[in-house]
Amino acid sequence: MKKIGIMTTGGDCSGLNTVIQRLYRGAALRGWRVFGIMDGTDGLCATPPHVIEFNNETLPIEWARMAGSFLHNGHPGALNFETAAHSGRLGHFNRQLRKSLRELGLDALVLIGGNGSISLAWCNRDIYSDIQLICIPKTIDMDIPLTDKTIGFDTAVQQLTSFCDQLMLTARSHHRWFVVQTMGRDCGQLALNAGIAIGASAILISEIKFDINALIRHIQRAPRDYGIILVSEGISLRGHSGRPADMISRKLTAAGIANRTAYPEHTQRVGDTTASDRILAARFADCALNAIANNETYVMTAIHNCECKTVSLADFFDAGYVTTDPNIPDLQTSDAYVSPDDALLEIATNLGIYLGETK
Ligand code: F6P
Repeated sequence: MKKIGIMTTGGDCSGLNTVIQRLYRGAALRGWRVFGIMDGTDGLCATPPHVIEFNNETLPIEWARMAGSFLHNGHPGALNFETAAHSGRLGHFNRQLRKSLRELGLDALVLIGGNGSISLAWCNRDIYSDIQLICIPKTIDMDIPLTDKTIGFDTAVQQLTSFCDQLMLTARSHHRWFVVQTMGRDCGQLALNAGIAIGASAILISEIKFDINALIRHIQRAPRDYGIILVSEGISLRGHSGRPADMISRKLTAAGIANRTAYPEHTQRVGDTTASDRILAARFADCALNAIANNETYVMTAIHNCECKTVSLADFFDAGYVTTDPNIPDLQTSDAYVSPDDALLEIATNLGIYLGETK
């Protein structure tokens, strides 16, 4: 009988509970014991580690669709690789993690995390040398290499789409524009996908340079006097500081274009998990359990061309844009962004959506 641990790290998103519930269900049917690590690495480092053992009552099926993480993602300032490095406690943190994993006697750890958590797990892989480490990618940013889908992204696109659908009605009533700032860090996938879903007039993402005057001309010549300009939080405008949506809004106002800003913020990370995210969660959970049964380790579940499989963390790391974090000595993170040949870019352009200076 195997003993497996499940841990959620990084920012929350919708779909985490579905993965947790499906992992438990599949593991229980195999006769395995399942332990939930509370509050990510912070709970794992505690003495004794904050852990619960799952049974059939722990996470009822009807809760599995809800956003957030039943296991929590850590309180502000929680102990993780980043905060440990910043406070000079990385050595202590690494030793504590290894000690806790040994005490728990787990055969495998399923880490449901984003780009940072998975990269950092790989950079500190010695910690997991005595157990199987299986990662499941989750993030609304869609910045994880080697997988076409991540848990939480589809629900985030849906949330953002619903938010903008509502704004479009008031925009029309007042003949004005809304500049909506999306999440996504430096990756424009969330803005790009939602922008196409709502029929945005412009989508600004950090992967594509834009010309503010070209944007203004595009809005002035638009066939309507209302609409939505989606601005990904990662963009910047030379010579300006502050929130990107505010910067764009000020420029539009100066050009005589009536507009307001809107910030959906963390509503993008919540909302009932879409069917598509739930199916993805079930596929990733099944794939992770099979990987454990096959004695795999240092792998991540991934979807590519509709096929679900595991990829090695070494390949995951090499496939991203690897950057050194100046705040964390010896650590690097791996990111993936909207590529210039992303099919949605051409679709957006063909629909007359301003994307920046793409030529
Ligand atoms: O990485 C997920 C994400 O939601 C980003 O899109 C966003 O920039 C960030 O986390 C927000 O983090 P916090 O919850 O700490 O404000």
